Amino acid sequence: MLKNIVCIGAGYVGGPTMAVIADRCPEYTVTVVDINAARIEAWNSGNLPIYEPGLEEVVRRCRGRNLFYSGDIAGAIRQADVIFVSVNTPTKTFGTGAGKAADLQYLEKTARSIIKYAESDKIVVEKSTLPVRTAQALGRVLEANGRGLKFRIVSNPEFLAEGTAIRDLNAPDRVLIGGLDADAIETVASIYAHWVPREKIITTNLWSSELTKLVSNALLAQRVSSVNSISALCEKTGADIDEVTAAAGLDSRIGKKFLKAGIGFGGSCFKKDILNLVYLCGYYGLPEVAAYWEQVVKMNDFQAKRFVGKMLSSMFNTVADKRIAVFGFAFKADTGDTRESPAIAVTRQLLEEHALVRICDPKAIENARLDLAETEGDVSFFTDPYLAAEGTHAIALLTDWQEFRNLDYRKLYDMMEKPAFIFDGRNLLDAGMLFDIGFNVYPIGKKERTHF
Ligand SMILES: NC(=O)c1ccc[n+]([C@@H]2O[C@H](COP(=O)([O-])OP(=O)(O)OC[C@H]3O[C@@H](n4cnc5c(N)ncnc54)[C@H](O)[C@@H]3O)[C@@H](O)[C@H]2O)c1
Repeated sequence: MLKNIVCIGAGYVGGPTMAVIADRCPEYTVTVVDINAARIEAWNSGNLPIYEPGLEEVVRRCRGRNLFYSGDIAGAIRQADVIFVSVNTPTKTFGTGAGKAADLQYLEKTARSIIKYAESDKIVVEKSTLPVRTAQALGRVLEANGRGLKFRIVSNPEFLAEGTAIRDLNAPDRVLIGGLDADAIETVASIYAHWVPREKIITTNLWSSELTKLVSNALLAQRVSSVNSISALCEKTGADIDEVTAAAGLDSRIGKKFLKAGIGFGGSCFKKDILNLVYLCGYYGLPEVAAYWEQVVKMNDFQAKRFVGKMLSSMFNTVADKRIAVFGFAFKADTGDTRESPAIAVTRQLLEEHALVRICDPKAIENARLDLAETEGDVSFFTDPYLAAEGTHAIALLTDWQEFRNLDYRKLYDMMEKPAFIFDGRNLLDAGMLFDIGFNVYPIGKKERTHF
């Protein structure tokens, strides 16, 4: 009988996912462990380590009842019937495959902890996003336990998106479970079946499940890069990207989601997962396929560069000593996560041009400080957009926080140097209204509105 669920890795995935499982399955004890003691402490405090709408309520309901955040990895492994592995799998920065392949050292260390502390058979669930056929390697490490313990591996990739994690976990489009052992698959399926309709719980072989997660992210990122590539063409031709995507997206074969032009995708997953796919294609002798997917990442980098290029050329080819307010640093709204945020690249380029950058974000200021700690230049941090914008020459809107839409732009305009510029990197603002106030307005993939 399944009683104890353990998750190794208390991050953006492990933390919220286990909270929802504990909430939906009161008869199980759910324990989340991590090597990062500060993170565990934060999960046990009133100030959770990540911001996610709705998360606090779920944690408050379950913590101490059947949900525990703990640093006792050994004890948790001993007790566990099912172990979810939700550790980070970043892009390798050294050695073979550096810059593309996934760094699996955290996964392997986790496997070694499991064989060190386990005293009984376990189901080990790959929750992290992994290269296809990782389960084979993981299986070899686990089999080497030397005590005859049996570990059955199941792949159960997570499809939640940051900012909507709790909603995505409560009502997923699908739950994917891949494995070789029908009993193990059913054990994991029975957890989700507490709240997910059976027809949405898809079971496949191990390799399909591992590969599907990389493919899903690659296809989503590809849509963003496709639209962003067309936004550049729109600016040259007088076409309007929102009109183009709205009309194209009405075709039911295309659909309207993920067709919003902007400064590019960010987040910890898209780039690393596509690069991982690129590496795999190269490894399996498919250089053309690798090049095809690599272009999605290149297009994304180009879009951020193009944005800064437009800022420069429209501000008379220099931003040196000009104060620029950056509105939004998180990679998207409703999260404090800044990993791979395009705001990092944009800010660095502005600093290289000797601009004085004033960053404002409602949830991501602490992360922004860390991201820019080693970047040279004049940068300051604000949570109040009016203070950030005081005396600036331009506002660059980089994250689609709704609160930026509702600011008093007349007041902002009055506080700024003239001519005042707004570069709307998310097409969030009403360009006509801003122009009427007096701003020179530069959206993405649309006609610019200037007073010159
Ligand atoms: N962030 C997302 O939106 C998202 C969505 C779906 C899938 N994923 C995937 O899920 C995985 C985790 O992502 P994340 O964003 O939660 O990462 P994260 O960095 O927020 O969390 C990972 C945690 O694992 C811990 N850890 C690392 N090695 C450990 C070990 N040996 N023992 C115990 N704890 C250890 C780290 O200290 C960290 O707290 C990644 O593979 C990612 O690709 C992420």
